[in-house]
Amino acid sequence: MRRLFTSILLVGALTVSAQTTMTLHADQGKQIIPKEIYGQFAEHLGSCIYGGLWVGEGSSIPNTQGYRTDVLNALKELKVPVLRWPGGCFADEYHWMDGIGPKADRPKMVNNNWGGTIEDNSFGTNEFLNLCELLGTEPYISGNVGSGTVEEMAKWVEYVTSEGDSPMARLRRQNGRDHAWKVKYWGVGNESWGCGGNMRPEYYADVYRRYSTYCRNYDGNRLFKIASGASDYDYNWTRVLMENVGNRMDGLSLHYYTVMDWNAKGSATQFNDEIYYKTLAKCRGIEDVIKRHVAIMDSFDPNKHVALMLDEWGTWWDVEPGTNPGHLFQQNTLRDAIVASLTFDIFHKYTERLKMANIAQVVNVLQSMILTNDKKMTLTPTYHVFRMYNVHQDATYLPLDIQTATKEVSPSFGPLPMVSGTASRDQQGKVHISLTNVDLQNAQEVSITLQGMNAKKAVGEILTSGNISDHNTFDAPNQVKPIAFNGATISGNVLKIKLPAKSIVTLEIQ
Ligand code: AHR
Repeated sequence: MRRLFTSILLVGALTVSAQTTMTLHADQGKQIIPKEIYGQFAEHLGSCIYGGLWVGEGSSIPNTQGYRTDVLNALKELKVPVLRWPGGCFADEYHWMDGIGPKADRPKMVNNNWGGTIEDNSFGTNEFLNLCELLGTEPYISGNVGSGTVEEMAKWVEYVTSEGDSPMARLRRQNGRDHAWKVKYWGVGNESWGCGGNMRPEYYADVYRRYSTYCRNYDGNRLFKIASGASDYDYNWTRVLMENVGNRMDGLSLHYYTVMDWNAKGSATQFNDEIYYKTLAKCRGIEDVIKRHVAIMDSFDPNKHVALMLDEWGTWWDVEPGTNPGHLFQQNTLRDAIVASLTFDIFHKYTERLKMANIAQVVNVLQSMILTNDKKMTLTPTYHVFRMYNVHQDATYLPLDIQTATKEVSPSFGPLPMVSGTASRDQQGKVHISLTNVDLQNAQEVSITLQGMNAKKAVGEILTSGNISDHNTFDAPNQVKPIAFNGATISGNVLKIKLPAKSIVTLEIQ
């Protein structure tokens, strides 16, 4: 592991133990876990862009070419593989030409989706693509289908990717950027069944075909075109798109939020045990949703030409008291961290079809990695899971059979397993296992038979805290953070782990 942390005394948490057994098939890996499933999403919403990522060069907040330096450094640690922008719902009202050229000349607009805030367009295409370059991240641009024209989208593609002497390449040069950027991922609309135009799938399928026709490949840049997909259980949308668009799209998106009741989402920090377990059951419901969309895609596209792109996911709670309801600023506890780890454990199983996922959102919005307030910044428990799990990026997925106790939580979802896990072998040959004990009271004695590998020891990190509602604040930014884990031993081919209640562990097996 890359970091050394002070060791934790786990004895108190281990008084009651349940048993979990697993078999790791280290000799059976074949599928690569695409790093893009660890993707992020940045929308012009609340203080995600302005104040969160971008403060401008003249700001008193330390910045690098206008980007917050503290946020940049934190994101570099995560190895963000792909960043989706500018929305979300915002994307279908965004006119990219308003966001280029001298900042003083850029027109203002009202952000109708998100609190009616005035958007001054000071963060536009150049600022976004330069940010991606600084982070070493693949950009994913979501084009405006709902209120934009085909011409507008076609010119946007030309502006960012054409190297030649074309009108849009000349405009880009006037704006100080000589060479084109490389942009792979291009979204043709967002939530076109809702905020992106309230279309029926049959109509949108034709609209997609029309818009995507004019998204050209310039000068060696090859666009990976993504159609706006379904939300949750709308299997008909996927069916109609697969039938009517088929191989004209490279990817089809899907959105799934961990929300139990859209009219009463609940507090991010104040919840009881029952709500906690129901949240995890709803989170795990994503597996069935993925399976069903994949089954439909398989029936039309057995060779898996079209990828499933889960380009919005995560928890969605009530906004923090006293904040703008349209800005979706929420706190983030150990519960959110567990939602993230369980979700990745599921994603890893479906990467034959699932090629990208983007948590909503990167800074200050929904289940974010980072919270900022003026000069202050804190990393969330979810951030720590993304950092601990980044060892699985582009690694080979290793099957892990798990026998663990379950809990009946909600009739709408299956029983909730008390321990979840996933494993992979990275490109240097190192095997990593991540484990989550969701049980609020009981520690788990986990016994893993290592098949097809020899190992002597396992070292790693643990993320846990005294209370499941613990979270980081600007005044106490280290309440929930990973520390070194010393509860794993290997004897013969059996790895034994003492996994405390409500904890997440990532181990490197050596
Ligand atoms: O992530 C917040 C919003 O949720 C996005 O703008 C939209 O696509 C979805 O409904």
